[in-house]
Amino acid sequence: MMQPPLIDPFARAISYLRISVTDRCDFRCAYCMTEHMTFLPKADLLTLEELDRLCSAFITMGVEKLRITGGEPLVRKGILTFFEAMARHLQSGALKELTLTTNGSQLRKYARDLAAVGVKRINVSVDTLDDAKFAEITRWGRLSQVLDGIAAAKEAGLQVKINAVALKGFNESELFRLTEWCARDGHDLTFIEVMPMGDMGEAQRLDQYWPLKELRAELATRFTLVDLPDRTGGPARYVRLAETGQRIGFITPLTHNFCESCNRVRLTCTGELYMCLGQEDVADLRAPLRASADDTALHQAIRAAIARKPKGHDFDYSRQAVKGQMTRHMSHTGG
Ligand code: GTP
Ligand code: 5AD
Ligand code: SF4
Repeated sequence: MMQPPLIDPFARAISYLRISVTDRCDFRCAYCMTEHMTFLPKADLLTLEELDRLCSAFITMGVEKLRITGGEPLVRKGILTFFEAMARHLQSGALKELTLTTNGSQLRKYARDLAAVGVKRINVSVDTLDDAKFAEITRWGRLSQVLDGIAAAKEAGLQVKINAVALKGFNESELFRLTEWCARDGHDLTFIEVMPMGDMGEAQRLDQYWPLKELRAELATRFTLVDLPDRTGGPARYVRLAETGQRIGFITPLTHNFCESCNRVRLTCTGELYMCLGQEDVADLRAPLRASADDTALHQAIRAAIARKPKGHDFDYSRQAVKGQMTRHMSHTGG
C-alpha cells in the first residue's frame, strides 16, 4: 500500500535513501577511519530481512533511489541476497535506481551479479592512481585489485563513476592524470571536498582541505568547462569538458552548500536514521521495527524523524578553524 510522501519541514521531498549495510571495511582510508577502529558487534546488526522491511517501508513512502553503502557494502555477508530482494522494487517500478558506493575491492566477485539484479551505475572511490600513494591513503588497499574490479564492472556493463576526495598535497598533482584516465576509460569523475567526520585533529583537516573552487580553476587552465543541468539525485553539480566530452562532478559541502535541495536521509546497519550527514540527531527505527510485524508504528517513527530533518550541516573551515565537526566517522553512515 503506497503511503503519502515524506516531506520535511523545509518542503523538501525525501526520495533518496542511503543504507549503510555494515560499518566494516577492508580498507582504512586515512580521511575516513582511524587505523584501529572498533566495529559494532555482529549481534547488533539488523538482519538482511529487517533491512529489507525498512527499505520497503521507505519505498512505499516515496523513496525512489536506494544507494547501498558501508563501510564497504560488499564485505557484508550475503549482501547479494539483499540486492536480489530490492530488485523486486525495480521491477514493480516503485524504485527508479538501485545502486552502491564501493571501494571496488570486491567487484571482480560481484559485478556480474549486481548487473543481473538491475544495478546500472556504481560509484567507486579512487583518490590516486599511484600504487604507493594508494596504499598509503587506504592503508590496507591495493590499487591493482581496485582497477581490476573496475574492469570487471565495465565488462558486466555497469557504468562507473569515480569518486575522488580532493586532498591538498596528496592528489593535487594528479588532477590531470585522474581526469585523463577517466576520459580514456569512459568514467564520470566526481571530486569531493573533505568533510570533518570523525576526529582527526583540526590542523590535519585544514591541511588536507583543497577547495574545489581552486581545483576547478586549475582544471580550467587546460580545459573548457561547460556547466551542465544534469542531476543524478545526489549533491554533485556537473560540467562537461569541451575538449574530451567527459563529465566531471563537484561535491562542495564547504565552498558551496547544496543543502537547500537535499532529498536524502541515511539508515545505518543497526536501524538508526540520520536525517542529515552533518548533524548528530538520530532516530531509532529498530525498536518500532521489532515491536510489531505490522508497519504502522514504523511508518509513524519515520514520519516523526523526517519532521525533525534539519536545514543543513554546519561544516565550515573559514577562519582557520573546523566548524561543524561530527564525532562519528564517515563509515558509520556511508557518506
Ligand atoms: P550520485 O547518485 O552519483 O549522484 O551519488 P552521490 O553523490 O549521492 O553518492 P556518493 O555515495 O558517490 O557520495 C559522494 C559523496 O557525496 C560522499 O562523500 C558523500 O558523503 C557526499 N554526500 C552525499 N550526500 C551528501 C549529503 O547529503 N550531504 C553532504 N554533506 N555530503 C553528501
Ligand atoms: N570527506 C569527504 N568524503 C569522504 N569520504 C569518506 N570520508 C570522507 C570525508 N571525510 C568519501 C569516500 C567515498 C564517499 C562515500 O565518501 O571516499 O567516495
Ligand atoms: Fe542534506 Fe544534511 Fe547533506 Fe545538507 S548536509 S545535503 S541537509 S544531508
